[in-house]
Amino acid sequence: MSLVISNLGKRYGTTPVFSHVSLTVASGEFLAIVGESGVGKSSLLNCMAALDDWSEGSIVHDGVNLGALDEVQRAHWRREKLGFVFQAFHVLPHLDVAQNVGLPLLLLKRPDPARVASMLEAVGLAGLGERLPAQLSGGQLQRVAIARALVHRPRLLLADEPTGNLDPQTAALVMDVLQQQAQESGASLLLVTHSESAAARASRLLRLTATGLIG
Ligand SMILES: Nc1ncnc2c1ncn2[C@@H]1O[C@H](COP(=O)(O)OP(=O)(O)OP(=O)(O)O)[C@@H](O)[C@H]1O
Ligand SMILES: [Mg+2]
Repeated sequence: MSLVISNLGKRYGTTPVFSHVSLTVASGEFLAIVGESGVGKSSLLNCMAALDDWSEGSIVHDGVNLGALDEVQRAHWRREKLGFVFQAFHVLPHLDVAQNVGLPLLLLKRPDPARVASMLEAVGLAGLGERLPAQLSGGQLQRVAIARALVHRPRLLLADEPTGNLDPQTAALVMDVLQQQAQESGASLLLVTHSESAAARASRLLRLTATGLIG
């Protein structure tokens, strides 16, 4: 199993968000998580990405117990293993599009302009590599974030509403790219979405509630 989450609980201060979340995801599996706004989907993904701490339970990825890693080890783990599409993009404003997409490869000391160009083309942004983020539309920015999450062929792909700003046709293109790239690298793909058509593509659909994940 690629990802094993056991009895995970998360509180902000004393305010509980979710508890008793248990989940195993195999390599190559595509899982969709739905749930109403504010139930904790982004918080759960942040925990899975070891970007935030959790209050109880454990997360193990490919045998690595994320809770046992310090901040530096977590950063290295993310750099190597993780692709994350943030709900709010987090594209770096002072880097151009190609530099944003190529950043994960640069951090791994594996720069690969051809790979960057092919990812830009895959998400429909060919020719926009030299633009700055401020010169892009919301949907184009979202696709920059997706290309960046995929470029280094991560083993774990976490995507938070990756089609939230896209028209149905572009959303379908982006979902094709996400699925194809995940399949090629045998990655586990976890998608948080309010989109029924995106969720319908998943091999498993789970609903997050305050008291756990319902399958
Ligand atoms: N840093 C924080 N400190 C305190 N509370 C937070 C923090 N981040 C989120 N929350 C609260 O935790 C709950 C879960 O937030 P989260 O962003 O995980 O929800 P979500 O399911 O992703 O919602 P949406 O579908 O709107 O994106 C919400 O009530 C939110 O207000
Ligand atoms: Mg969210």
